[in-house]
Amino acid sequence: MDAADMDKDLARVLISEDELQAKIKELAARIDEDYAGQDLLIVGVLKGAVMVMADLARALHLPVQMDWMAVSSYGAGTKSSGVVRVLKDLDTDIAGRHVLVVEDIIDSGLTLSWLVHNLKSRNPASVEICAALRKPDAVKVPIDVKYIGFDIPNEFVIGYGLDYSERYRNLPFIGTLAPHVYGEA
Ligand code: XMP
Ligand code: MG
Repeated sequence: MDAADMDKDLARVLISEDELQAKIKELAARIDEDYAGQDLLIVGVLKGAVMVMADLARALHLPVQMDWMAVSSYGAGTKSSGVVRVLKDLDTDIAGRHVLVVEDIIDSGLTLSWLVHNLKSRNPASVEICAALRKPDAVKVPIDVKYIGFDIPNEFVIGYGLDYSERYRNLPFIGTLAPHVYGEA
């Protein structure tokens, strides 16, 4: 696919690169303050959180450690299967550690509530969540999200780590898909 094809598939830019970067710096400043003097492990949820992890980690002044988990709740399309599978677990023993889970997006909240429950069973000192985006349905699941970038409308979004069938993750902004892309899926 070339750049022109990508442009055709994009309906509109929802959050610009500048807006994203400014928000990440804001969240990082809060995290620096909240965890000052503490030992923090940030856990990125693959693959969607790679961009927000990379930007957040570099915006933090705290000397954090980074680890990754891969879970799968979605298939190739846009609908949640409701089933969470661990594809890659942490390399780190989190017992007694302060853990901050970094996610790209909270939609139903099923993935994160499952993940937080799973992590808490390992006896960490604390588990908090930082998510770049949150959709309206997330309010239906009782999940405490400490750091949120943007509340967005209930549309399927791509870019900044988020994919549609593994495409568009490398866009530096958040966009919505043109309807014809759904039609082809
Ligand atoms: P739940 O519903 O469990 O889903 O909160 C969270 C996961 O679903 C994926 N997701 C999306 N991925 N565009 C995407 O590219 C979207 O609009 C979207 N909504 C949910 C995502 O993988 C997230 O981790
Ligand atoms: Mg994801």
